Amino acid sequence: MVEANGDELAELESLDNGKPLKLAKVVDVPETVAHFRHFAGWPERVYGDVLPVHQDGMLCYTRKEPVGVCGQIIPWNFSLLMASWKLAPALAAGCTTVLKPAEQTPLSALRLGELALEAGIPPGVVNVVTGDGETGAALVDHEGVDKLAFTGSTEVGREIGSKAGRSLKRLTLELGGKSPNIILPDADLDAAVKGSFQAIYFNTGQACNAGSRLFVQRDQFDDVVSALADRAGKTRVGPGLDPATQLGPVVSAEQRQRVLSYIDAGRDQGAELVVGGGSAVVGGGPSLESDGGYFVEPTVFTATDDSLKVAREEIFGPVLVAIPYESLEEVAARANDTDYGLAAGVWTRSLTNAHRLASLLKAGSVYVNCWGEVDPGAPFGGYKASGVGREHGREGLEAYLETKTVWAKLG
Ligand code: NAI
Ligand code: MG
Repeated sequence: MVEANGDELAELESLDNGKPLKLAKVVDVPETVAHFRHFAGWPERVYGDVLPVHQDGMLCYTRKEPVGVCGQIIPWNFSLLMASWKLAPALAAGCTTVLKPAEQTPLSALRLGELALEAGIPPGVVNVVTGDGETGAALVDHEGVDKLAFTGSTEVGREIGSKAGRSLKRLTLELGGKSPNIILPDADLDAAVKGSFQAIYFNTGQACNAGSRLFVQRDQFDDVVSALADRAGKTRVGPGLDPATQLGPVVSAEQRQRVLSYIDAGRDQGAELVVGGGSAVVGGGPSLESDGGYFVEPTVFTATDDSLKVAREEIFGPVLVAIPYESLEEVAARANDTDYGLAAGVWTRSLTNAHRLASLLKAGSVYVNCWGEVDPGAPFGGYKASGVGREHGREGLEAYLETKTVWAKLG
């Protein structure tokens, strides 16, 4: 039903979030479909074990049971897709859920709730509640909720995590990132530039796994930065519903303000602004600001100091920080010098270097010669402050199950 109503869902997503309609059609909707299809296959594969315990005459087995009522809170960057990441495993495990979309983007989740009813999911199993952080907090605090699943800022994640620590609710958290993307000297540079561009500017930089810290070996640094700046300068910024748009606005005035203040901090602290840096002027005319278009130019900074704010904090907008390095060991250490650990990437033609870095980088996902790949069967989540637990596949499903051990004396 998501597939059959894909055009409508894509349009709702574009209207709500501002993202290019094309992007919603080729990414958000089909990925949502894939997620439900994947988890639709799990229910008949959820089973326990018979355990060879040492007691005589004892049958010992485990049952996998639904964890119960889930409180699921999602952000605004991929509202429909994040709804599917939350709903699909919960339903496959046999849970009921209360899903709260972000206040900026409630429409696609509401429509998904209607489709769930039309699809025959019994009323009361999937509940969609709109509201802001206060509503989210009420859900987190509610005694009837057994399991919390949250995607959003690290700040709110810490708060929800500490509440779950007190109430001992089950918990998964998918939080922020400042993901390092490393171009080694032996990389296919054209592919690396193209991929690194996508890694940061996809969804206007509003992706938890955005490749926002780009490390380039000193000898190639200037060439790579100028190729990226060139691409950024040619990118067509515009409204989501305009088919010519390549980079949509950020989600809200608040988010634009947050992104622009990071750009100011970059300038103030001495990062070098190579391209962009302001509210974009759209269509060669006056800025569409007054029409509610929260545009930000695709921006590239260079920096040599890893401690700058723009090099350490999640910006969640179209802002890249490029940083030069000398050696592989050095860049691995600098890449890991962050509170976050959601994703990391390496561009190289060397198998050895690829897998050396894949083992050295402390991140939940490592991309080799690609960026941002996801699959409903491949675990996704963060090391360190990027989260707790994993979504997708068996591990994602397990987060919605309790294990019960049954002991039965037979003799
Ligand atoms: P946020 O974390 O405040 O909002 C995400 C969701 O949490 C929304 O549904 C919101 O209503 C809810 N929420 C807010 N406060 C809550 C609370 N105290 N208890 C329960 N639920 C609560 O994120 P926000 O303010 O929209 O964006 C701030 C920054 O967070 C962004 O600039 C970005 O850095 C990061 N972020 C990361 C995301 C990711 O995918 N990891 C997604 C969205 C934001
Ligand atoms: Mg917030």
